Amino acid sequence: MTVRTVLKMGDPVLYRKADPVTAFNTPELDRLIEDMFDTMAAYHGAGLAAPQIGVSTRVVIFGVQANPRYPDAEVVPTTILVNPVLQPIGMEMEEGWEGCLSVPGLRGLVNRYRQLRYTGYDQRGNPIDRTVSGFHARVVQHECDHLDGILYPMRMNDLRRLGYEDVLFPGLAKSSAQMAASEDL
Ligand code: NI
Repeated sequence: MTVRTVLKMGDPVLYRKADPVTAFNTPELDRLIEDMFDTMAAYHGAGLAAPQIGVSTRVVIFGVQANPRYPDAEVVPTTILVNPVLQPIGMEMEEGWEGCLSVPGLRGLVNRYRQLRYTGYDQRGNPIDRTVSGFHARVVQHECDHLDGILYPMRMNDLRRLGYEDVLFPGLAKSSAQMAASEDL
């Protein structure tokens, strides 16, 4: 188990365009993904991109489990996505609050495509092809932006909607579903 340090906004690696994976089913790729899951769990994230742990490679992971205490929280299947390609479906956008493990303590209101198709591969090279909407679509857009050097504040239309989570959501326990589900995102 290796929990890696999550790079924070300002680190140049986070603004770099990440390189595609060229070899699947390798011990190196397996180790990277294992470290990413260990790190995401340790930081209670809903997703993580390889550049966030300093590896400028096109790999993201994400997933939100069902929790009987928060039946309204949207479930996102645990997914390993290598070399992803996103295609928005329609032009409809949706605003939603996001957080990022690389931007700790802050939340921002971000416009994302409501529906999209994403394709890519798992770590063995098996193709993935899904059409998703809502929170699942938001998570994918947030994580894949990391591969192009984009952090969510760079997507915001109104920076007055960027703030500290304890100020924006006073009284809301950090462990609540909403906060957990939107934590990187
Ligand atoms: Ni993030």
